[in-house]
Amino acid sequence: MKRRYLAVLGLLVIMAMVLSACGGGAPATQAPAAPAAQETPTEAPAAQEAAPTEAPAADAAAPAAEGVVNLTWIGPGPGAEFEFRKQQVAEWNAANPDIQVKLIEGPSSATDRFGLYLQTFQAQSSDIDILQIDVIWPGDLAEHLIDFNEYGGAEAVADDFPAIVQNNTVDGRLVGLPWFTDGGLLYYRSDLLEKYGYAGPPKTWAELEEMAAKIQEGERAAGNQDFWGFVWQGKPYEGLTCDALEWVYSSGGGTIVSPDKVITINNDAAAAALDRAYSWIGKITPPGVNQFQEEESRAVWHAGNAAFMRNWPYAYGLSEAADSAVAGKFDATALPGAEEGMSAATLGGWQVGVSKYSKNPAAAAKVALWLASAEQQKAQALAPSSLIPTKMSLYEDADIAAQRPFMPKLLPVFTSAVARPSTATAPKYNEVSNIFFTNVSDVLTGKQKGADAVANIELDLEDLLGFEVGAP
Ligand code: GLC
Repeated sequence: MKRRYLAVLGLLVIMAMVLSACGGGAPATQAPAAPAAQETPTEAPAAQEAAPTEAPAADAAAPAAEGVVNLTWIGPGPGAEFEFRKQQVAEWNAANPDIQVKLIEGPSSATDRFGLYLQTFQAQSSDIDILQIDVIWPGDLAEHLIDFNEYGGAEAVADDFPAIVQNNTVDGRLVGLPWFTDGGLLYYRSDLLEKYGYAGPPKTWAELEEMAAKIQEGERAAGNQDFWGFVWQGKPYEGLTCDALEWVYSSGGGTIVSPDKVITINNDAAAAALDRAYSWIGKITPPGVNQFQEEESRAVWHAGNAAFMRNWPYAYGLSEAADSAVAGKFDATALPGAEEGMSAATLGGWQVGVSKYSKNPAAAAKVALWLASAEQQKAQALAPSSLIPTKMSLYEDADIAAQRPFMPKLLPVFTSAVARPSTATAPKYNEVSNIFFTNVSDVLTGKQKGADAVANIELDLEDLLGFEVGAP
C-alpha cells in the first residue's frame, strides 16, 4: 500500500508541476458549485494540499487486501460535478470490494488537464488508470488509450449518438466511451427581458448587444452597480477556443481549419467577429472576463449580476439550485448569430478512457463501462450539475423529461453543434487550439486587431500543419 501511496503522491507532484507550468489551474470546466471568482485557485496546489481531495471511500492508508485491484481515476476539477463523482466512487467501491477506485481531483482547465495527461503518458506511467477525455482529444491521445472493443465496448455504445461513437473511434479502435455531451448555450434572464419589454431572447449579436446594454443600464440605475450585460469565457485556454469558434462560425467565418484540411481562418468575417467580442469588454462584459473560465462567468450569473451568459448545460441545474439568485428567473437557448439563423454552438463533451499503461486495464475498463452506462448517465443528468446524456434512449426517459425538460427541448442545439477542427488536425489539435486562443486573447486584451490575429493564426497553422489555405 505504501507503494501505491507513493505513486499517488508522485502523480500529485506531476499535477502540481503541470499546473504551475500552465500558469495555474484555475476554475472549472464542468460543474463546480459557485465559488466566488476570487476564490479560484491560481496557484498550483502543493501535493499535501491536493491529497485530502481524494474520495474517502478508497482508503489509501488501509492495508492492501489480497486480490484487490486498486485503480486511480483523475476526476473533474473542484465543484458540484466532483462531489457527484465522489458519490459514484463510494457506490462503486461498496459494491465491488475486489476493484477499489481512488478518485483524485483533476485540473478544471481542459488545457491544463491535457498537459497533465501528456506528461504522465510520455513517462508511460501507470499512475493513472481511468481518465476523462474531452471530445477533442481522441485523435491526439489515441495511442495512449486502450481499445474498448476488447472489453465489450461495441455493445456498450450501441445506444450512443453515432457521431459521438465515431468521434471516439480512431483507426477502428474505440478509445473512449461517450459519457456526456455539451453544447454552448445562451442563458438569459427571462424576468429581466420581460421587465425591459423584450418578447424573447436575442437572435443576433446586434440584438444581444442592444438588450444587454439597456438591461445593464437599467439595473445599475436601480442600484445594482455590479450588474453586467453579458458574461462568457475569455481566459486563454480551451474554453476561449470554444467561445471564439462560436463568434467566428456564427458570423460566416468558418471553423479555423475545415474538415477537408484547409486553413480557413484568415477572412474578414472571422476578423470582424473577434473585434466585435473585444468591443463588448468594459461595455457589456466585465474587464475581468480576460481571466474567466466557465466558473467565473457562472459566479457572476449565479449571484444575479448578469443578463446573459454563455455557458454549457451543467450551469442549468446549478442555476436552479436553492442557493441561486436566478432560480426560476432564467432559461437557455441557442446562441445568437451575425444574422438570424446563423447561430452556432460549439460541440463539447467528455468520454471515459483507460490508459494503455494501466497495470489493470480489464478492471479499469469495467469501471469505465459502468460510469458510461445508461443508469449512471441518467444519475448524472439528474444530479445538480445536469450533464447531457449521450444515450439516445434517455431522451425518452420519463424522469429526465420531468426533472430536466431543457434536455429534450434543446436536443436540436446539441445535435447540430459545430465541431472544433480536432479530427482534421489530429494529433496536433491541442497545438492548433493553443495558437488560436493565444491570438484571440491578444485581441481581447487590445494587443492586436482581429485582422492581424487571423493572419497570424493562419501563418502559424501553415507552419504547424503544412495545409493549404483557403476560404471557409
Ligand atoms: C466543456 C466542454 C469541453 C470543452 C471545455 C472547454 O468541458 O465539454 O468539450 O473543451 O468545456 O472549457
